[in-house]
Amino acid sequence: MAAKFITLDGIDGAGKTTQLNVIQEWFTAQQLPVVFTREPGSTPLGEQLREIVLNPASKMTPKAETLLMFTARQQHLDDVVFPNLNKGINVVCDRFTDATFAYQGGGRGLPYAQIAALEQWVQGDFQPDFTLILDVPLEVALQRIERSREKDRFEQEPAEFYRAVRETYLQRAASQPQRYAVLNSNREKEVVRQDIFNLLNQLFER
Ligand SMILES: Nc1ncnc2c1ncn2[C@@H]1O[C@H](COP(=O)(O)OP(=O)(O)OP(=O)(O)O)[C@@H](O)[C@H]1O
Ligand SMILES: [Mg+2]
Repeated sequence: MAAKFITLDGIDGAGKTTQLNVIQEWFTAQQLPVVFTREPGSTPLGEQLREIVLNPASKMTPKAETLLMFTARQQHLDDVVFPNLNKGINVVCDRFTDATFAYQGGGRGLPYAQIAALEQWVQGDFQPDFTLILDVPLEVALQRIERSREKDRFEQEPAEFYRAVRETYLQRAASQPQRYAVLNSNREKEVVRQDIFNLLNQLFER
């Protein structure tokens, strides 16, 4: 079976990083090769850009922000994603282009068509084989962010921003149900974990 590119997405606090550990556990148990990456990031340039875009002190227009996301993405694809997939190693990424549609499109209000044009330029027709959207109600996400850490530049945005971000994820998932699974992440971590195991078993025909 060809190596797969799997992405994990959803609003801040939905539990992506938490459930990445579960995905890692599954790959280890199955003895399948995998690398874990994140966007923006996972290359020296990408990690530098991540610092900039997440830093609350950074000022930039929505278009500049979007270009930085795609800059990091281009480097990540060429340096990490494509070489690994070509070697037969699966790649699991914490956030990908769905996040750009959700945050810069839904959240910041950039037209989706402009983001789609950059997507085409950077990725061509390359898309994740599968995308897991972790979903929680807005209030739950905001509570989790509040509790868990210092807020980054996005996490300082008002609730309406996050409402639009979440809506965009759900719309995109609904428009292409074969590529997405939306998981209710407002349940015990163990329950979400079992769903993820089931999905991965299906996806890899285990
Ligand atoms: N199913 C769950 N039930 C209760 N709390 C959870 C659940 N999943 C995650 N959390 C908690 O919510 C907080 C945010 O989780 P996590 O960092 O995994 O989210 P995230 O989606 O990676 O967020 P970000 O996008 O900001 O990186 C953490 O404190 C985590 O322990
Ligand atoms: Mg995270």
